[in-house]
Amino acid sequence: MANRKPFIAGNWKMHKTCTESVETAKRLKEIGAGLTDIDIMIAPAFTSLYAVFDVLKGSNILLGAQNVFWKNEGAYTGEVSPVMLTSVGCIYAIIGHSERRSYFQESDELINQKIAAAARNGLIPVFCIGETEQERDADKTKNVLDKQLTKGLQDIALDDLKTLVVAYEPVWAIGTGKSATTEQAQDAHAFIRGKLNSILGSSMAEQIRILYGGSVKPGNIGELMKTPDIDGALVGGASLEADTFGEILKYRG
Ligand code: PGA
Repeated sequence: MANRKPFIAGNWKMHKTCTESVETAKRLKEIGAGLTDIDIMIAPAFTSLYAVFDVLKGSNILLGAQNVFWKNEGAYTGEVSPVMLTSVGCIYAIIGHSERRSYFQESDELINQKIAAAARNGLIPVFCIGETEQERDADKTKNVLDKQLTKGLQDIALDDLKTLVVAYEPVWAIGTGKSATTEQAQDAHAFIRGKLNSILGSSMAEQIRILYGGSVKPGNIGELMKTPDIDGALVGGASLEADTFGEILKYRG
């Protein structure tokens, strides 16, 4: 099995003022000190990015954005470009989160443009995919994952995808307290890795980290991380409080 470094990411969604973000980041910096055997990312709101970047300087916690636009500049009121994000210290950008797909009608085609733009500009995409409850009940999970991966990665140069991170987030598990079982998650992750293999080739598919997201908590992270194809987690609610997120970061005990 490839030696993939575990990656644990916090998505703060639309929570925390700038001051609150700075406070949480300061505490996380203390907690994360010495945790060098995992990669850690936090994604605060756009308005807090630069201030949090300043706090995280010199720490092992990297900054991510929750969204990105697909052009570098222009008359696109309200949008934020990849270049702007790297200029405030972002290394990663979450792209295709199910909340963006459902509330903001983001299509696979749009997500593809965003992944391409981010990667071209040196911003690592954390590309989210996942099925809804109805899709799972109708036994369509793998068709959905197949389509999201195929369309999302279409026509992007392999070189630009070397650092790609994929997050499997079943929509029915997000913010519901109802996490996928380790078997359900491993089954989806193995399918995703197989699909990455056919799109990108086996050596890239073996290197790419696939995170699980959806009601990850201190109580279930350990079991999830034991499965062969789960390389980390994308954590929403349980990342908001530094000490709780710290317990997740220290899942090895
Ligand atoms: P949750 O959110 O951990 O609150 O379920 C996960 C996510 O949306 O990334």
